[in-house]
Amino acid sequence: MILRRTCTTEADLAMLAADFGARLMPGDVVALAGPLGAGKTAFVRALVEARLGGDPVSSPTFVFRHRYPGTPPIEHLDLYRIEDPRELPELGLEEAFDGEAIVLVEWWRHAPSLLPARRYEVEIDGAGAGPRTVAIREPA
Ligand SMILES: Nc1ncnc2c1ncn2[C@@H]1O[C@H](COP(=O)(O)OP(=O)(O)OP(=O)(O)O)[C@@H](O)[C@H]1O
Ligand SMILES: [Mg+2]
Repeated sequence: MILRRTCTTEADLAMLAADFGARLMPGDVVALAGPLGAGKTAFVRALVEARLGGDPVSSPTFVFRHRYPGTPPIEHLDLYRIEDPRELPELGLEEAFDGEAIVLVEWWRHAPSLLPARRYEVEIDGAGAGPRTVAIREPA
């Protein structure tokens, strides 16, 4: 099933992310796609903030992976800088998929083999100050 929404403002997108995030269970994986600046990180931050509280914006910047502690914890992966899947083994990113944490992956198409087949897919389209369309596909 695919849910489609238009988010006029970033606050709209944040509300959608919070609603969606409330349904996630430990071990769930969410694959996020969309062009540069679409709002993938904004979606992740709103989701993390709604589930775990606090201010994820103040968390340290990271390159590939950041784990937000909680019950369950949330893993935030960003595969933007992966140019070749052969880089994966040395990065150890598969540890994020421990079956317990909720895992949110930006730029997942840079390393599709990392993700389990059972996953949500979130596609965000739009840029700049304009509205965003968000499509959320549930696992089969
Ligand atoms: N309706 C909207 N929804 C989401 N973000 C919006 C919206 N309108 C404006 N923005 C702005 O768009 C930017 C989205 O940036 P964000 O870092 O979340 O994108 P991203 O998809 O993670 O990009 P990247 O591919 O570089 O990681 C933010 O600066 C945000 O304030
Ligand atoms: Mg981002």
